[in-house]
Amino acid sequence: TSALLSGVSSVFFSDGAVSLISPSVKLPQCQHMLKHLHHGARVTVQMPPNVEGHWVSTSCEVRPGPEFLTRSYRFFANNSFQAHQFYYEDNHCTKPTHSLVIRGRVRLRQASWIIRGGTEAEYHLHRIHIIFHSESTAKNMSHRLSRGCKGAGKEAFEGGVLYEIRSEDGTLDCTKELNFAMHELQLIRVEKKYDLNQDSDLNRDHVVEELFLGDIHTEMAQRMYYKPSSYQTALQNAKHHAHGCIMCRIISRSDELHPPVLPPRGDLTVGLFGTWVSQRCEVRPEVLFLTRHFSFHEHNRTWEGRYYHYSDPVCKYPTFTIYARGRYSRGLHSTRVTGGTEFVFKVNHMRVTPMDLSTTSLLNVFSGDQCGTERSWQVGVEQDVTGTHGCLALGIRLPHTEYELFRMDQDPLGRYLLFNGQRPSDGSSPDRPEKRATSYQSPLVQCSDSSQRHDSAAPHELHFIVHG
Ligand SMILES: *[C@@H]1O[C@H](CO)[C@@H](O)[C@H](O)[C@H]1NC(C)=O
Ligand SMILES: *[C@@H]1O[C@H](CO)[C@@H](O)[C@H](O)[C@H]1NC(C)=O
Ligand SMILES: *[C@@H]1O[C@H](CO)[C@@H](O)[C@H](O)[C@H]1NC(C)=O
Repeated sequence: TSALLSGVSSVFFSDGAVSLISPSVKLPQCQHMLKHLHHGARVTVQMPPNVEGHWVSTSCEVRPGPEFLTRSYRFFANNSFQAHQFYYEDNHCTKPTHSLVIRGRVRLRQASWIIRGGTEAEYHLHRIHIIFHSESTAKNMSHRLSRGCKGAGKEAFEGGVLYEIRSEDGTLDCTKELNFAMHELQLIRVEKKYDLNQDSDLNRDHVVEELFLGDIHTEMAQRMYYKPSSYQTALQNAKHHAHGCIMCRIISRSDELHPPVLPPRGDLTVGLFGTWVSQRCEVRPEVLFLTRHFSFHEHNRTWEGRYYHYSDPVCKYPTFTIYARGRYSRGLHSTRVTGGTEFVFKVNHMRVTPMDLSTTSLLNVFSGDQCGTERSWQVGVEQDVTGTHGCLALGIRLPHTEYELFRMDQDPLGRYLLFNGQRPSDGSSPDRPEKRATSYQSPLVQCSDSSQRHDSAAPHELHFIVHG
């Protein structure tokens, strides 16, 4: 496999020199960032995971719907947990509407067969309480809850009062009316990593602990029935969070009577210029591990992307690489998802490189003109599959169009983060406007190897995406 790995290396590390910070723009180099990812060196995964402790969101999270929330979860040594979910009206989590306090027990079962690196768990709910932080939300939800809940009276809810909406014996139960489930506790992963958001020479041993819980189905109607097959944004340990995480501090100090109110801020205009890379080995439903690398050319509205696929959860063993490019166009601000901007991406050119024997044989087994030249695939050798309209074996047909949702943010170091839409949980692609995402996947970070970044450039909006 060393030949395969160096195949990847030649793409990423061809210039050898790693200067972490370029003096003028202070952006880490893409090569450097991906090198750490590909070697998996800075992350250790705890198996089985120890979840005991207090874990909090690092930002205002967006769930399909959309729903805007922050989370503060406590797991105790006796297997019980107490989870706070704080919901908001706005996409910066400045206006709390209501909070849920969920109590129950969780028990780890076994290493997941489906999502390598994850651990399966089962949970039981004990009690759930709700509290409203605004009278209008209380009024609105009273309507919904008092009508339908099993065992509920006809009371009208008021703000500032804690109401039980699921009792321990189950005689009162509003989970259906709330479309509520804690299935995220069915898939668990704990990672420890060095805090990259600070000068590593000064503080080498600051370790950040992250808790990954199962993902939420992109269709609201499926939420209560879906077993997680990837992860949500990680929570961080309230004691071992990243130094710059102001949100972590605010959220860790709050409770149902004092919901976190995050600092108000504006929405950043989406500006895609430059090069963007994954910050971690990403997991997709359907058991894919990958890292992504994108460049956008605003002057001619084209983009290029590389998707590096792996067989393992720390992205060490490559399976295949896809290079894709095409055009994009920027749409309007989303009316459905505050803070998001709509884009359309087209893929009209693609190349594939199998990186291991099993992917190479798979491609060779497919006969006919459906993926490059029949039976000609070799490990580490790239082929253009544009002429065969993509690659059926990998489930990619060209030309392909995707309807995207993008947003931008900045991390505590001021680096730009680019979020694109969460892939539909049913494995399909967002190839129609109505399938456009209402939530996001883990962000790409801007890095500087294109030497194209102009700080004076007017911010532009754009976006990208592909990947079947
Ligand atoms: C488990 O531990 C927590 C924290 O110490 C405590 O509040 C809770 O009552 C315990 N639960 C059970 C079922 O013993
Ligand atoms: C009441 O709730 C519904 C459904 O959640 C929502 O569409 C509507 O905007 C809410 N109305 C108010 C006044 O909050
Ligand atoms: C768009 O611009 C990029 C960067 O300058 C260039 O590499 C690419 O070939 C251009 N594409 C088209 C279709 O003009």
